Amino acid sequence: MDAITLDGFGGPEVMRWSKVPDPGAPGPGEVLIEVAAAGVNRADLLQRQGFYPPPPGASEILGLECSGVIAEVGAGVREWSPGDRVCALLSGGGYAQRVLVPAGQVLPVPENVDLVAAAALPEVAATVWSNVVMYAGLHAGQLLLVHGGGSGIGTHAVQVAVRRGARVAVTAGSQYKLDRCAELGASILINYREQDFVAVLGEFGGADVVLDNMGAAYLDRNIEALAPDGKLCVIGMQGGVRADLNLGTLMAKRATVHAAGLRARPATGRSSKADIIADLRRHLWEQVADGHVVPVVHAELPITDAAEGHRLLDGAQTVGKVLLVVPQG
Ligand SMILES: NC(=O)c1ccc[n+]([C@@H]2O[C@H](COP(=O)([O-])OP(=O)(O)OC[C@H]3O[C@@H](n4cnc5c(N)ncnc54)[C@H](OP(=O)(O)O)[C@@H]3O)[C@@H](O)[C@H]2O)c1
Repeated sequence: MDAITLDGFGGPEVMRWSKVPDPGAPGPGEVLIEVAAAGVNRADLLQRQGFYPPPPGASEILGLECSGVIAEVGAGVREWSPGDRVCALLSGGGYAQRVLVPAGQVLPVPENVDLVAAAALPEVAATVWSNVVMYAGLHAGQLLLVHGGGSGIGTHAVQVAVRRGARVAVTAGSQYKLDRCAELGASILINYREQDFVAVLGEFGGADVVLDNMGAAYLDRNIEALAPDGKLCVIGMQGGVRADLNLGTLMAKRATVHAAGLRARPATGRSSKADIIADLRRHLWEQVADGHVVPVVHAELPITDAAEGHRLLDGAQTVGKVLLVVPQG
C-alpha cells in the first residue's frame, strides 16, 4: 500500500507518499480500515521532528485518527462488518491507505456526516469527552473556559459544553477565531493579546472547568481563574512542561489540576481508549448524528500534500481541523 514515510526527522518536506508493506489481515479483536482521510494533530508535527516516538507496539506511520470503510474484521469482532462507514482513534498509522485498529476504538459515521469530514472527530471527541465530561463532570449551569477556542479541540469543546447546558468562555489570539467560537455557542470571548482572562473570568465568579492547551505558561493564572471546587484539565503543553504550583491557592479553592494524554492509554481496561470511545458513543454520538455537534474542518488536502497540511497547522491560522484525503483505489 501507499503511506506517508519520513526521510529522516525534520521539517514538513521529509514526508513522502510512498510504498510500504501492507498491514496484513486483522488479528483477533481488530478491524482493517480502508482510509478515506486522516486528521492532522500537533503530535504528528512533533513525531515528524523526532520528538514524539510512537509508544511500543504502535505503527511507525504518522496519524492518530482516520475515517474510512471497514475492509475486514478479525476473529471475535461482531460489531463491525465490511463496508461499514467508520472513524477511529489510532495509536498511529492513519497517514496510509489501510490501517489496523482495535475494534473498541472505532465509531460509526452517522448518515448525515460526510465520510472525509468524520476524520476530524475521533481525537477531539475522545480528548474533550475524557477530560471535560468523564473527568471534570461538566454539567448544565457551569462555566467552562477553553483556551485556544479556535483550535480543533476548542471548536469541538465549545459545541459539547453548550449542548450540556454549560456557559462557555474562550480565549483566542484573533477576532475571526473568536467570531467562529461565538457561532458555535461560546458567550464569553477573550482576545488573549488584549485582555487578561483571569480578570474576565473573575467577573463571572471563575470557571468551574478550564480546558488548557498552554501548560506551564498558564498554570498559575489558570488556577486563579478557577471558581471554588474548580477543575483544571491540562491537555497541551504549548507553553512548556515545568512550572511552580501554588498549593496555597489550590487548597483555598479546593481546586484540582489534572493532566492527561490519549495516545499512551491502553487499548482496553480502566481509563483505556476503548473505555472513552464507548462512553462518548453512548452519550455524545447522538448529537453528532442529529447535527448538533459537527466536525469543524479548516481544510481538506490530498495526503500527497501532507507537508502543506503540517505547515497550515503550524501556522496557527486554522480554525478547526486540517484533514488529509487519501486517494481511493
Ligand atoms: N492530551 C491529549 O490527549 C490531547 C489530544 C489532542 C490534542 N492535544 C493538545 O491540545 C491542543 C490543541 O490541539 P489541536 O489539535 O486542536 O491544535 P491546533 O488546532 O493546532 O490549535 C492550537 C491552538 O493554540 C492556540 N494558542 C496559541 N497560543 C495560545 C495562547 N497563548 N492562549 C490560548 N491559545 C493559544 C492557537 O490559537 P490562537 O491563534 O488563538 O493563538 C491554536 O488555535 C494542543 O496543545 C495539542 O497538543 C492534547
